[in-house]
Amino acid sequence: MPRDVVRFLRRGRVVERRGFAPAETLLDHLRLNERALGTKEGCAEGDCGACTVAVGRLRDGRTVYEPVNACIQLLGMVDGAEVVIADDLAPSSRRLHPVQQALVEAHASQCGFCTPGFVMSLFALYHAGVRADRATVNDWLAGNLCRCTGYRPIADAALACCTGEADDAYAERAPETARRLAALAGDEDDHLHAGDEDAFFAAPATEDALAALAARYPDAILVAGATDVGLWVTKQLRDLSRIVHTGRVASLHEVRERADRVEIGAAATYAEAEPALRALDPDVGEMLRRLGSKQVRAAGTIGGNIANGSPIGDSPPVLIALGATIELRLGEARRTLPLEDFFIDYGRQDRDPGEVLTRIVVPRPGPAEHFRCYKISKRFDQDISALLGAFRLRVQEGRVVEAHIAYGGMAATPKRARCAERAAAGLRLDEPAAWPAAAAALAEDFAPIDDHRASAAYRMRVARSLLVKALAEIAGRPSAETRVVGIRERTAA
Ligand SMILES: Cc1cc2nc3c(=O)[nH]c(=O)nc-3n(C[C@H](O)[C@H](O)[C@H](O)COP(=O)(O)OP(=O)(O)OC[C@H]3O[C@@H](n4cnc5c(N)ncnc54)[C@H](O)[C@@H]3O)c2cc1C
Ligand code: FES
Ligand code: FES
Repeated sequence: MPRDVVRFLRRGRVVERRGFAPAETLLDHLRLNERALGTKEGCAEGDCGACTVAVGRLRDGRTVYEPVNACIQLLGMVDGAEVVIADDLAPSSRRLHPVQQALVEAHASQCGFCTPGFVMSLFALYHAGVRADRATVNDWLAGNLCRCTGYRPIADAALACCTGEADDAYAERAPETARRLAALAGDEDDHLHAGDEDAFFAAPATEDALAALAARYPDAILVAGATDVGLWVTKQLRDLSRIVHTGRVASLHEVRERADRVEIGAAATYAEAEPALRALDPDVGEMLRRLGSKQVRAAGTIGGNIANGSPIGDSPPVLIALGATIELRLGEARRTLPLEDFFIDYGRQDRDPGEVLTRIVVPRPGPAEHFRCYKISKRFDQDISALLGAFRLRVQEGRVVEAHIAYGGMAATPKRARCAERAAAGLRLDEPAAWPAAAAALAEDFAPIDDHRASAAYRMRVARSLLVKALAEIAGRPSAETRVVGIRERTAA
């Protein structure tokens, strides 16, 4: 029998919810059901961080806390996890939690609306086991906005308290928490199906059960991290009645590093996939660092970034340039296709109703291959790309012999630039005067979109510049001439 109740840990007790609307958000549960009002709602779309809570899950036997935007996290997704909110940290005594105390001492709060969110991002950093430097703090707080205080005192508080040594009630009861989370996890037969035929939140525990369920209900919405789907609920006010969550399938979280490739389960979050992807090339790591925020990367998946078919998703052009393939499954039938063939047109992908994306396979660049990718957006942190260019060039004896070039934001889908690829093949790295003419071939590949993020003319100009920039960097011109960020990652590689 499937389990019809969602279970998770709160304040040391197991909370059980049944009979909830399939798309109820975690924030609505906290504020409307628990009446725990410390967690705020600002934007309701994952941008401001006011709703940040910490979600604890077992990883390799220990509890790892990650910051998550409760406004776009569906309640059923926290099944089996511990949920910690700002109200919990200093429950009865007058003694504040170390991160709260640090914020007080640094005068890091004024109106206070953003503060519970900052507290919870810092709580997760406090438990991350790293001595935070300013760059780390900036990355961890990029998903939290404050409109009064200014970020310096908040960052100062973070530097003062996030020393890598957690010494609080959560660290004290960590073994007990790990035991309780292990008990909540359930086994492979533990099929969560809360609701009835017409409206349900289902979360099977195996790939077979997931594929069978998705095939049986082809109109159901597949949900991985809900960083897109959550907004259908909070912004488009869509009534999602049948939801199938991929996140409880352990095999879909696996990220396998093979000698010649990386295999990424479609439910692996950005945070889970990041070390393996960064190891492919530092630029892939830099792209991920600028994708959303810590909160978005803790929930969102590469699988969702592909399946949503967005023309401006960051990972698809990068993966296309790297030559990635994807695996899909409809019931028992499985198929594999090059990622570039998945994107047919705006809003149209090569995916049948009920078909589940299961895996992404990314080849490692070969020894003579050079990879570069660049995200262009209006804001440095947590902003959607205006465009993104990705380049994998095979170079022999100073000459480009093969080019794989892909862009996001230049067409209705992420797309390869085949004309520019042909024009780039044969270029000599010591003849920069010939590069702009090759880059001009991009005009045959793309008639760019024109919208509020960037004009068509701007996109085309920047796309050309990015190809020239990649060639300049690969030719060995000093990276300081070509970029103001990401130098550390590139030169450390
Ligand atoms: C604040 C914020 C900032 C963001 N910043 C960026 C950014 O910088 N760059 C960027 O590219 N994106 C960004 N996004 C968009 C989003 O985070 C990504 O597209 C993310 O990868 C979506 O993954 P998900 O797991 O959350 O997908 P979900 O929301 O769970 O699903 C997205 C789509 O994929 C489908 N789907 C999910 N899993 C599967 C599967 N296994 N098989 C078939 N279909 C599936 C769903 O049905 C849905 O149509 C941002 C979002 C937010 C809220
Ligand atoms: S309310 Fe703004 S991120 Fe959730
Ligand atoms: S203290 Fe007012 S928004 Fe941050």
